Amino acid sequence: MTKISKFTMIDLPPRVNFGDLIFRFNRLSSTMDFARRLAELHFPEGTSVLADEQTAGRGTKGRSWYSAKEKGLYVSFLLRPSSSSLNLLPLAVGLASAEATFNLSGLDLQIKWPNDLVFQGKKLGGILCEAGTSGQESSFTIAGIGINLNHGHDDFSPGLWGQATSLFILTGKTFEKESLFHLLGQSLQFWYNNLEKGQVSAIIDQYQKKLSFIPGQTLIIKNQEAEIEGQFLGVDHNGGLKLNLGKEVKTFYASEIIKVLS
Ligand code: BTN
Repeated sequence: MTKISKFTMIDLPPRVNFGDLIFRFNRLSSTMDFARRLAELHFPEGTSVLADEQTAGRGTKGRSWYSAKEKGLYVSFLLRPSSSSLNLLPLAVGLASAEATFNLSGLDLQIKWPNDLVFQGKKLGGILCEAGTSGQESSFTIAGIGINLNHGHDDFSPGLWGQATSLFILTGKTFEKESLFHLLGQSLQFWYNNLEKGQVSAIIDQYQKKLSFIPGQTLIIKNQEAEIEGQFLGVDHNGGLKLNLGKEVKTFYASEIIKVLS
């Protein structure tokens, strides 16, 4: 286990550009946990943690994130967003990830709300945002991004066959994770700055263009209570999914899209 307490002695700035301060590991349980420790030690916003392999990578909703060695980009960024940015942050990170992946590969990925990266229905990447606090009034968010780069079919666990894909499977080419990390840092910096400046409409507009479904389509979503069917109207300024349920229009937040009907 790497000792990180000694770094607290260094006089660090409050923030660095994404990509300027990087902790790299061959193997970690999860980049989320290491980034959280750095946050608690007051490392600057923008610090990133990269691992070639994760032994306990995690996804949203208590799922695990299968992190085959040297096959994907597994990274967490330490952020300290203002409270007004919190709702849209996961969407902005998804947007930045789709943009960076396009800039690397030319593949126009789509976003499955809220922030899965998909191509023709198969998942290529995911975002996990976890919040925390370190001392009084010092809150942070760890934005974790996993993108499948060079996975072949057999590099996924059998449970993921048919659901997951990678840039290699889609293009037949291999990609350097360092190149994607560099592009991701640039895109994330751009969209995060926009978010912090309150440029909500710009983010929502660009985000909606990347969605894997369009207004007018019928969605089936699942929240904690039930499965709900409704016509998609748009994404609201808090990142919620606006659905016309027939009798009323409702906005959903903590939900998952099960199916997109025509
Ligand atoms: C999801 O779609 O469920 C989110 C997946 C997030 C995976 C990334 S990989 C880097 C970071 N470390 C983790 O343990 N998870 C995130």
